[in-house]
Amino acid sequence: MREFNAVVFGAGGVGKSALTVRFIRNEFVENYDPTIEEEYRRTIEVDGELSWLEVLDTAGAEQFTALNEVYIKSGRGFILVFSLTQEASLQEVEHLRQQIYRIKGENSRVPIVLVGTKLDLANEREVERAALEDIAARWGVPFYETSAKRDWNVHDVFEDLVRQMRLR
Ligand code: GTP
Ligand code: MG
Repeated sequence: MREFNAVVFGAGGVGKSALTVRFIRNEFVENYDPTIEEEYRRTIEVDGELSWLEVLDTAGAEQFTALNEVYIKSGRGFILVFSLTQEASLQEVEHLRQQIYRIKGENSRVPIVLVGTKLDLANEREVERAALEDIAARWGVPFYETSAKRDWNVHDVFEDLVRQMRLR
């Protein structure tokens, strides 16, 4: 079986762990417990082919971002996570994307998926779908609006990334 690894990046509290744990264990993490670093593994079937996927859930907290370079070097694919309820978290993702290309090489085709979380919190939404479409088109990456709480579109994120990683 082929093996792939993915790194989950994004600002603190945007829902990286909730997204990851929903995918890995199909549970919703209600309590906020800031991550230092967590590694998970599971098999995933995409288009009839089973693979192992290792998922590295990183810390959003500022004091840990020195590790990003190490994660980028060892990561094959990246899930860039922001919260649809927090405009500023989208800027953080933009910064992470630049860092990835700087380290991987500007011309490399890095598997990336852009993910907006907390889609269920419709009343608190700050990022318009149109804005997200623009950014994703400019970057040439797929995007998903998700809810770890309601289990909306979570599996699709990981499937898409595996599909991209197989090709590259
Ligand atoms: P750090 O580990 O500090 O970087 O944060 P994180 O990005 O891992 O955030 P985490 O997944 O811990 O989620 C932060 C808070 O947001 C938690 O209380 C979650 O329950 C909540 N949350 C995450 N995803 C969702 C979602 O889809 N909907 C709702 N309503 N809440 C969510
Ligand atoms: Mg976390």
